[in-house]
Amino acid sequence: MADFQSGKPALDDWLKDMALYNQAQGYTRTFVIADESFNVVGYHSVCAGMIHRNDVSRSSKGSKAPPELPVAVLARLAVTKQHQGRGLGPALLRNALMSVVSAAQLVAFRGVIVHAIDDDAVRFYTKYQFQPTKGMERRLILPTKDIVASIAQVTR
Ligand SMILES: CC(C)(COP(=O)(O)OP(=O)(O)OC[C@H]1O[C@@H](n2cnc3c(N)ncnc32)[C@H](O)[C@@H]1OP(=O)(O)O)[C@@H](O)C(=O)NCCC(=O)NCCS
Repeated sequence: MADFQSGKPALDDWLKDMALYNQAQGYTRTFVIADESFNVVGYHSVCAGMIHRNDVSRSSKGSKAPPELPVAVLARLAVTKQHQGRGLGPALLRNALMSVVSAAQLVAFRGVIVHAIDDDAVRFYTKYQFQPTKGMERRLILPTKDIVASIAQVTR
């Protein structure tokens, strides 16, 4: 894990410094992919959050939505440079979305939000049907009802 370099130091440092602590404290849940030598080559972290109904489109919030909508937050997702370009990022995204679909059977999540780290990341998520939100730059949402279609896109 010490060698993990995705090209985004903030995501690398968080994995090394915070992922385990946050796991123990119940702040985030981190899933990793490792190579045959147990080196981490990709990860995602998910937690729960809320988004105000005024910040999302009608189709994302539905009708008679409460003021705050419960959402899953895909807090971080990264693949080490050496393994980028082989579909691991979409595989991690698919895994995270499937976790949310599964969790949403027991705990209500209206959607999944991501805070994309830059415009490249926005393009990556937009490809999988994430939509812009209002009130915060580079925050995107994928309604839970659209996850299955998004997963089909990721798998294609
Ligand atoms: C973004 C990231 C997760 C993509 O993972 P990856 O395994 O390299 O993904 P791949 O290159 O195999 O791409 C899979 C698909 O996503 C597309 N894609 C990848 N990066 C993209 C980008 N920045 N913008 C738009 N599309 C992108 C590819 O074109 C490909 O589509 P295709 O299958 O239709 O050709 C990875 O590059 C990464 O970790 N980057 C640094 C960290 C980061 O930016 N994380 C984003 C979360 S905030």
